[in-house]
Amino acid sequence: MGALRRAWIGLTGQFAWRLRPAHMLRSFSRTEQGSALDMFAAVESTDRRDIRKKYFRHALDEWRHAGIFRERAREVAGPDAVESGREEAGMLVEHGIVGGRTLFERLGERDFLAFVFVAEADAVEQFGVYARHGLLDAGTEAALERILKDELFHVSYSKHELDRLSEAEGAAAARGAVRRIRWSRFKEGYLRLSRDIGHGMSSLWLLALYGLVLPPFRLFARLEAPGWQAPPTEARSAADALMSEA
Ligand SMILES: [Fe+2]
Ligand SMILES: [Fe+2]
Repeated sequence: MGALRRAWIGLTGQFAWRLRPAHMLRSFSRTEQGSALDMFAAVESTDRRDIRKKYFRHALDEWRHAGIFRERAREVAGPDAVESGREEAGMLVEHGIVGGRTLFERLGERDFLAFVFVAEADAVEQFGVYARHGLLDAGTEAALERILKDELFHVSYSKHELDRLSEAEGAAAARGAVRRIRWSRFKEGYLRLSRDIGHGMSSLWLLALYGLVLPPFRLFARLEAPGWQAPPTEARSAADALMSEA
């Protein structure tokens, strides 16, 4: 699974970084921003005083990462490239802060820690694949290097907490939490991919419809004269008859 995932990241990365580098950077920025919100919510929700400080530091790191990616996106796409409200709304919906419970509230502390560990380890692996395949320009690579050492800290503290959980509740509880999170992330990834394929297919069909099917009808169409038109004679006489009956 790991090798398959790395191959997939390498393959999709080839296209994404070449064709839409600013989009990639903006999307990373939104993910980091969403993670920061999840972590701030965890700071408020946890009952464990010993871990609250780590959650807080983690939240600040993610907030800073969001800024680094946003800044890099501006450098790549130019100062006029602004995020649309639709993208902002997408970030909030995907991270589940609005209109419901936070990630921490939905998962509980054990699964939340497993989520942090899995998500951070996946992110480090993803950045590693991009670097190994030489997909990034020098500026983006420098930005990633600044971020990567924080991400390694996020992996190590969440792993440490999971190890502590293994000692306290048994290895099966920690392993089960990691397995649940991996499965739910796999399902979410599959649904996201299906949605993107759906969008791609509907764009393709609409393009075919407007580009190939509708244009021939233009040959038989003619523009109407502008302004109000008198109705045809039959319609006028029917209307007159009705008026005279009334
Ligand atoms: Fe981050
Ligand atoms: Fe992180």
